[in-house]
Amino acid sequence: MSLSREQMLVEMGITPLWVLRDEPLETAHEAPGHVPAASEPLPAKLLPAEAAHQPAGLDLSAVSTSPVSTSSIAADISAVNSLDWPALQRAILECRACQLCEQRKQAVPGVGDLNPDWLFIGEGPGAEEDVRGEPFVGQAGKLLDAMLDSLDMARGNKVYIANAVKCRPPGNRTPEAAEMAACRPWLERQIALLKPKIIVLLGRAAVHAVLKEDKALGSLRGQRLEYAGIPVVVTYHPAYLLRNLPDKAKAWEDLLFARRVLRAASQSLV
Ligand code: URA
Ligand code: SF4
Repeated sequence: MSLSREQMLVEMGITPLWVLRDEPLETAHEAPGHVPAASEPLPAKLLPAEAAHQPAGLDLSAVSTSPVSTSSIAADISAVNSLDWPALQRAILECRACQLCEQRKQAVPGVGDLNPDWLFIGEGPGAEEDVRGEPFVGQAGKLLDAMLDSLDMARGNKVYIANAVKCRPPGNRTPEAAEMAACRPWLERQIALLKPKIIVLLGRAAVHAVLKEDKALGSLRGQRLEYAGIPVVVTYHPAYLLRNLPDKAKAWEDLLFARRVLRAASQSLV
């Protein structure tokens, strides 16, 4: 890394679309450590009114007010790996390591519980996120909040939400591989500091950024993957689900699967 671094819903209201399938999930892709699918009724709370969850704002008060000059950061991974959380936040906000800095309103580091069980990783900020400085606050975010709510979870409560790239790709295009590579040290440091018990990758860009894997998303679902010893589960991006409503049921299955993976991991620790 060079100094360049410095530089369910709407109708997930779910309606019938979020009804679980009867058949088991992706049994063809069972891997060692595979956690079997179990059927669970669709939560009644997945109703449109419930989807209107108000996300907590990004608490920048946690960011050190003392100037952390990213220019003073030796531009290498070990420098990033020495950053504490406030310094990391500040460094991301000041980062100009890729061309996405040019058109952003602000970088969007992430939001949530700094001692999370769950880390959800999306693609990159969209227009609303760029303005508000918080990930997943647009339509896709409402769906993500409804998905969390259906698991009795909420952003900020044992959940942290981040993106593969921290700055909005113009026109909401998919981030380029080089941009994800430039941003990866920030994400890696976030993961190292947050120490989540499970990581859920939302869509192909997140899969590419974290796992360096470009297989079709469908072929990776239903498996317990791993990053730095942390279990990883893959599912569809909420924005994709908004366009492909029938796949919401699959995403719901994926989240139930992730919860079982998390529980299995927690039990193996006791
Ligand atoms: N889509 C993403 O991948 N991330 C966001 O923060 C918002 C939409
Ligand atoms: Fe830096 Fe990441 Fe923003 Fe690129 S997308 S400027 S690497 S914070």
